Amino acid sequence: VTVHVPRDAAARSVGADQVAERIADAGGPGVRVVRNGSRGMLWLEPLVEVTTPAGRVAYGPVTPDDVAGLLAAGLLDGGEHPLRLGPTDEIPWLREQTRVTFTRVGVIDPVSPADYLAHGGLAGLRRALSLTPEQVVAEVTDSGLRGRGGAGFPAGIKWKTVLGAESDLKFVCCNADEGDSGTFADRMLMEGDPFTLIEGMAIAAWAVGASEGYIYVRSEYPDAVATLREAIDVAYAQGWLGKRVLDHDFSFDLFVRVGGGAYICGEETSMLESLEGKRGTVRAKPPIPALEGLFGMPTVVNNVLTLGSVPMILADGAAAFAELGVGRSRGTQVFQLGGNIARGGVVETAFGVTLGELVEGYGGGTRSGRPVRAVQVGGPLGAYLPTSRFDLPMDYEAFAAADAMVGHGGVVVFDDTVDMAGQARFAMEFCAAESCGKCTPCRIGAVRGVEVIDRIVAGENRGANLKLLNDLCHLMTEGSLCAMGGLTPMPVQSALAHFPGDFGVTEERR
Ligand code: NAI
Ligand code: SF4
Repeated sequence: VTVHVPRDAAARSVGADQVAERIADAGGPGVRVVRNGSRGMLWLEPLVEVTTPAGRVAYGPVTPDDVAGLLAAGLLDGGEHPLRLGPTDEIPWLREQTRVTFTRVGVIDPVSPADYLAHGGLAGLRRALSLTPEQVVAEVTDSGLRGRGGAGFPAGIKWKTVLGAESDLKFVCCNADEGDSGTFADRMLMEGDPFTLIEGMAIAAWAVGASEGYIYVRSEYPDAVATLREAIDVAYAQGWLGKRVLDHDFSFDLFVRVGGGAYICGEETSMLESLEGKRGTVRAKPPIPALEGLFGMPTVVNNVLTLGSVPMILADGAAAFAELGVGRSRGTQVFQLGGNIARGGVVETAFGVTLGELVEGYGGGTRSGRPVRAVQVGGPLGAYLPTSRFDLPMDYEAFAAADAMVGHGGVVVFDDTVDMAGQARFAMEFCAAESCGKCTPCRIGAVRGVEVIDRIVAGENRGANLKLLNDLCHLMTEGSLCAMGGLTPMPVQSALAHFPGDFGVTEERR
């Protein structure tokens, strides 16, 4: 009997290792425990799945102390128990998703090549290698895939720029410095299905003519680093990386580099500086990394989820991906529900799902049971939205029109006890702490921003200080060198616009 117990860091943090050990010890010789990634239903972790003739049956959340009782109740036959959730694929939360990038996450053993191949792995790379680089770039362009790191720049156009650049040496760099609070999809893909990322990077390398790749992972993700390193070793041994990838006249070497804990190293040019062994400060653009990137060479810099979407696009064709979504936001996005939420985790679904469907539908409202008051979408630099905006579709353009951003897909929920002036202050504080210091609007502006918000909340000369805060926000938005300083005003101004009372400002006085 095969029993799956996740090895994902989120599951391990609530006791998955002990659960796996107890099942292996008490289950007897007929039990094979497989450590899979997480299905993404984090409130049900550790989620234990038993393979039965009728498919996988889930139980959760399982504590180590539940194991003896579960075995006595017939766990290995999929028997009844209060923790039994039924067939995993029938759990509504999962059934109602459209998993493309996360198709294999939670299903397979992340470092088993046999599992990977049995679940459609390498189909994308095989097809890519049967096409010319130009054809692969055209396929990615036609799919409508846009950068999942947050900016939403068309991936095909970026690749075309790198393909067209003249150079003997080109790189593919994966940005896995997932620094946004409330985001964890990059981590879960790297821990749950690292071969998909590796395959996506190999496809990118073939498409643009690169021979070396780097995955830049934040140091806070030790499990992802270990899993990636293990998976890369396996991929070399299988001939999926190295001198002749899949026996083609194509060489691609891949390395993992670990960051040092700075948020700004998620900005692509800072990341490149850090990869070159320097302190992570932002480079002015132009030149864009596509033309002068790592060590000055043409470089693809893409987020984990962007590269992780590529194998499916090549395997199933651009049209299958492009047919999902709304407007110019095509395909699926891996949304991450967090904060004060009853059912937090990963929801991969086509663009166009509304914010309300994510928070109230999938998420089930707050964990505290109190009313939702605000939702921050797109990380610590994203806008705070009130429940009156729950009708907003998840779509880059619709969010931009609402002075908000989809970003990397993080959705953080707050109940009615939240102090929005405190949240606005936090944005400025965060920027002051994480600023790389290269430009004045961000380095100095964020420090002044904290002070001005403090004065507003204290009721000191409120009218003049509100005007000053607005001017400062405008200056930071327009004058900062990168998105760190440029986006910090977004949470501040959205908090002021939607929750003026928390700043001691009445609607009329605004
Ligand atoms: P950007 O709009 O300047 O650039 C987006 C990408 O397009 C870059 O890779 C850039 O080099 C490339 N690009 C631009 N013009 C190009 C051209 N003509 N040809 C080829 N490539 C071109 O945005 P940026 O500063 O890279 O990212 C800002 C975003 O980052 C924010 O919107 C935010 O959502 C996101 N973000 C994500 C975080 C995370 O943890 N994932 C953390 C913080 C911010
Ligand atoms: Fe550095 Fe901030 Fe300027 Fe970005 S905006 S370059 S983080 S000082």
